[in-house]
Amino acid sequence: MHTMNVLIPNLYDHIDRVFISESQIQARIGELVAQIEADYASVADLLLICVLKGGYIFLGDLSRALSRPHSLDFMGVSSYRGGTRSSGAVQIIMDLKQPIDGRHILLVEDIIDSGRTLSYLRQNLLARQPASLKICTLLNKPSRREADVPVDYIGFDIPDEFVVGYGLDFDELYRNLPFIAILKPERFAHLLE
Ligand code: IMP
Ligand code: MG
Repeated sequence: MHTMNVLIPNLYDHIDRVFISESQIQARIGELVAQIEADYASVADLLLICVLKGGYIFLGDLSRALSRPHSLDFMGVSSYRGGTRSSGAVQIIMDLKQPIDGRHILLVEDIIDSGRTLSYLRQNLLARQPASLKICTLLNKPSRREADVPVDYIGFDIPDEFVVGYGLDFDELYRNLPFIAILKPERFAHLLE
């Protein structure tokens, strides 16, 4: 079979700088896990809900670092349309596999920016009457908040910078980077014209 030579870009060439390193992330996860294990010490049944897609790496590391029993479920949410800014409209594109009434829920997010996604999700989940609902996010951009939403566990507060890696994407790429990074400005140039 004839194959064409295609030049596949190296994701690392698109990175301007590492913003939060792999070891900083892992160390912070250790601290969050200690806090979560203490807070849920008397709770037998804990369900972690991952907000897809961005939360998948954080959920994986958080879940593996927890030594207490817990189960997992996933929710697919779409709030971005490919750019670097939220459209404001939140859509559930994949719902939970099970009812959550009477259960203790920890919602796991990649990042809280305007807060719109989370405030919508929070109302949506509270309507299902869980026994408790807490929120854990790896990253938080407090300066960009538009919707007020209580957050129980925060990995890192960051300034208003667009970041990728460790689950976070730009146009569906860079999620697999093991650290949080800032892209080279030329990656955005076409969006700013
Ligand atoms: P919010 O509704 O404005 O809080 O946006 C939350 C969602 O926007 C997150 O779950 C991410 O998918 C996306 N998002 C916000 N900021 C960033 C960023 O800096 N990099 C990548 N995705 C982001
Ligand atoms: Mg995203």
